[in-house]
Amino acid sequence: MSSAISIPGSRPNPHAVSASTSPTVSSIHERMIPRKDSIHFSGIRLPKVLHPIDNEDLRLLLLENISQEAVKALRAQGFHVDHSTKAMSEDELVQKIGSYHAIGIRSKTKITERVLKSASKLLAIGCFCIGTNQVDLLSAAKAGIPVFNSPFSNSRSVAELVLSEIVALSRQYVQRAFEMREGIWNKQSKGCWEVRGKTLGIVGYGHIGSQLSVLAEAFGMRVLFHDVVNLMPLGSARQVESLSALLSESDFVTLHVPELPETMNMISTEQLAQMKKGSYLINNARGKCVDIPALVEALRSGHLAGAALDVYPAEPGSNGAPFDDQLNPWASALRSIPNVILTPHIGGSTEEAQRMIGEEVSSALTRYLNYGATLGAVNFPEVDLRAITLEEPNHVRVCYVHNNIPGVLRQVNEVLSPYNVSKQYTDSKGEIAYLMADIADVSPADVNKLKDQINKTSANILTRLLA
Ligand SMILES: NC(=O)c1ccc[n+]([C@@H]2O[C@H](COP(=O)([O-])OP(=O)(O)OC[C@H]3O[C@@H](n4cnc5c(N)ncnc54)[C@H](O)[C@@H]3O)[C@@H](O)[C@H]2O)c1
Repeated sequence: MSSAISIPGSRPNPHAVSASTSPTVSSIHERMIPRKDSIHFSGIRLPKVLHPIDNEDLRLLLLENISQEAVKALRAQGFHVDHSTKAMSEDELVQKIGSYHAIGIRSKTKITERVLKSASKLLAIGCFCIGTNQVDLLSAAKAGIPVFNSPFSNSRSVAELVLSEIVALSRQYVQRAFEMREGIWNKQSKGCWEVRGKTLGIVGYGHIGSQLSVLAEAFGMRVLFHDVVNLMPLGSARQVESLSALLSESDFVTLHVPELPETMNMISTEQLAQMKKGSYLINNARGKCVDIPALVEALRSGHLAGAALDVYPAEPGSNGAPFDDQLNPWASALRSIPNVILTPHIGGSTEEAQRMIGEEVSSALTRYLNYGATLGAVNFPEVDLRAITLEEPNHVRVCYVHNNIPGVLRQVNEVLSPYNVSKQYTDSKGEIAYLMADIADVSPADVNKLKDQINKTSANILTRLLA
């Protein structure tokens, strides 16, 4: 039996030291075992679990079948959690959201300005997915509601899919498997290659590109990458200065860049011509990064030996909907070319990724609701303070969301001036600013007075006190 030291609501720390009851404990473990009469571990000050001072139980609504791990983690924090497998329409949300302090959604539930107007108690929104465009982010920010998501939990899943596509293209086995399903035996080795010793060119060396770099080297590939930022290469990978240099040296080119004006059609006729004859293009990034009619031409002419696409400029809204020329005018031309692997945006769709999304977003919600930290919020300034410890029993944390206008800090600091402000941090993003301050030695009688005074400041959007 062992218990790791962790801050409630934060991710488990892989470097956390365990307190063990085993008779063979190492000296460091022995030093970490708390004495019964002490509230701290030899010099380590334990964080205090904070709660809203008005003491109302926090109610969370989780929709769209969010993972059970997330439900359990949030219930373990003492939140009352209502869980549904379905999305809710705008009308249903308008009726129900008023009694909840936080909501967790995936991509189907839309949080509109109208919904937010009915959300009188709402403190936070968790998007248990990558994107956040199902939420009116600006209206949420103006209502003092941070929105959290999980942009990178599926990086490994995408990297593994790309690696499988490299082998599949190189061996043409998707085509062979398709022929076998049609009852055709077509064994051949012409144009089929091992990937060992081949060069992989990664465009965009972020979360996915860098994971892929490690996996590809384990397969014996030589890895080049191009990124707008200078980055430390992993393993023996090498950063090249220009996209053209990468294109002309690579046997496989794979895109892992965000959708930006500069990355729209970043692979078009000119860039395809710079690629080696017989090379392959893979796009699991965003559909608009590749000029698909130009790609169709490069494949038909035999300049490229194959391509794998997981993302498209226009994608069907639901399973079963057609992927045809009405959606994208080149769809049937693309579908007719051999050795082209087309997948329906499944790069990040694995159970592991879903579980990690659940963990990440539920921790972000917990950190905000219990401690006021907005790290990872997409529509809010990111602010955090080090923990109030158990040795600071009369400390109160002020979480003050306000309009980003001149003179606010003077007003707030006037309210706080009779007290000892032990730490304070403020930041702004657009029209919204957020201040966190820990105040020492606030008597229980003063807490509500303090909250009222801050609430009355002219720029106030939402004030919470945690203790
Ligand atoms: N297929 C899927 O299911 C799936 C899943 C997750 C992510 N994605 C997409 O994958 C892409 C990459 O995701 P990530 O998590 O690795 O992102 P990331 O932000 O971690 O990395 C992107 C990298 O691209 C670099 N970059 C930006 N503009 C560039 C340019 N013009 N040229 C070269 N490099 C440039 C950035 O500096 C950064 O290093 C995103 O478009 C994302 O939407 C797809």
